[in-house]
Amino acid sequence: MTTSAAHSDAGARLPFAAYAQKVMSADDAVKLIHPNDTVAISGFASAGTPKDSITALAHRIGEARDAGDDFTINLLTGASVSPQTERLLAEVDGIALRMPYQSEPTARGRINTGSMDYVDVHLSHVAQQVWEGYYGTIDVAIIEIAGCTADGELIPSTSVGNNKTWLDVAEKVILEVNSCVPAQMKGMHDIYYGTALPPNRKPIMMTSVADRIGQPTYRVDPDKVVAIVQTHSRDHASPVTAPDEVSKAIAANVLKFFDDEVKAGRLPADKLLPMQAGIGNVANAVMASFDKSPYEALDCYTEVIQDGMLGLIKDGTVDHASTTSLALSDDGIEELIANIDFYRDHITLRPQEISNHPEIVRRLGVIAMNGMLEADIYGNVNSTHVMGTKMMNGIGGSGDFTRNGYVSIFLSPSTAKGGKISAIVPMSSHVDHTEHDVQVIVTEQGLADLRGLSPRKRARVIIDNCAHPDYRDALHDYLDRAEAKGGHTPHLLDEAFSFHERYEETGSMLP
Ligand code: COA
Repeated sequence: MTTSAAHSDAGARLPFAAYAQKVMSADDAVKLIHPNDTVAISGFASAGTPKDSITALAHRIGEARDAGDDFTINLLTGASVSPQTERLLAEVDGIALRMPYQSEPTARGRINTGSMDYVDVHLSHVAQQVWEGYYGTIDVAIIEIAGCTADGELIPSTSVGNNKTWLDVAEKVILEVNSCVPAQMKGMHDIYYGTALPPNRKPIMMTSVADRIGQPTYRVDPDKVVAIVQTHSRDHASPVTAPDEVSKAIAANVLKFFDDEVKAGRLPADKLLPMQAGIGNVANAVMASFDKSPYEALDCYTEVIQDGMLGLIKDGTVDHASTTSLALSDDGIEELIANIDFYRDHITLRPQEISNHPEIVRRLGVIAMNGMLEADIYGNVNSTHVMGTKMMNGIGGSGDFTRNGYVSIFLSPSTAKGGKISAIVPMSSHVDHTEHDVQVIVTEQGLADLRGLSPRKRARVIIDNCAHPDYRDALHDYLDRAEAKGGHTPHLLDEAFSFHERYEETGSMLP
């Protein structure tokens, strides 16, 4: 449901008199944004993206372009924002620079033709980089909120992302009050104000997933608030794909790994350790498979919660989930609203600098599980660049969790595009996660446990356990000849990208 007609409780959501006076239309609000401004908006995995303001901004930019004027902004977000939002701004060529993550086809196209600059950043790093001034002045923040308190603090919406930082650093603030966000979400958020730049950092005093170390609202200087837009529009639903046979096989391999780790005494038998599951079909399938596992009362320390997690919380498989985004489909939103008091006790929404914080991920011993495009025979992982050049989405939070996790797992079907692409290649065409960070690789074929193995041993385990049988001989042949040449990590430099070259020449990596 998306409608811009303000809901009847819209006034009640703004009990702070100074804000009530600043209510205006989205069209008027975006007149306060100028060409070349750096605009930082709310939104993480589509949840909590401003709705009417961005539509109005895209319209304004489009009109300026039609009139022959150059009008672009630099767009900073939490992560991906709603695809509709991203597309509207990309279609009018309204974005000069985009940071830190996107997953929308039109924007992706602009990035890959070079007409939109894209800076792909670890999500936990964004706030400190902005504070350090890497992105210059943040001219305007546009933040979706559920409402405000009587003293002017802001009640967050369905994602937190970088909103605390945007409200702190922006010169001007536009608030979009969305009366579709359940007012009862108040109390679900934990906004931590203790971060600082070095040398003034202090330990972050969180020792378990459900700890609350902040406050339920955002602070903002009311004088910076220049406009309030009222809207009544739901988040654009995040589609949930039912797990297919390949994803289910990957999930079964992961669960068997956990069973073996418990038997080996490396994971606690009752609760395992806090889980992080990345975006994408495969990670979703793995989380869904816990439903039928013997594990109960699990904790999740992750960055996005999708519909499946609500089911796991409801049936007791998951006790508490810490996240920065509730990216739910329409059905998921209905479920959340219907049982909001229950979910408020089991879900905590935090700023992404905390949900993804290396210090906390390391302390809690998070089990990191993320998708990949390809891995090479030594375990270097490419999560972002198709054939080493074309941006898919971005690194997102995968690096925050992978580098610092207790166990770091990468998941992928062994082939893509109907078997024409092998997920296991001689040399990764782009590296996001190095062999030093990657501990376990899982495909539907099996699982490669790389811990404690030297590069040559890693290569054999990855090929034998994870590569698709159609590619195993070619990979072994490459490895054998590379080993004959020697080296700690043997390669044939003139053949290292032969799989990719063959795909570009023939449309298939198959030998
Ligand atoms: N070359 C080209 N395309 C490939 C590919 C490869 N090696 N491997 C996968 N793909 C394509 C698939 O064909 C599919 O395309 P389609 O949508 O046109 O069918 C698409 O990539 C998604 O692949 P899928 O196997 O369904 O996996 P996924 O949905 O789990 O996504 C990533 C995999 C890598 C794209 C995704 O996990 C990602 O963007 N990761 C980086 C960010 C991240 O990890 N964030 C989480 C942090 S918490």
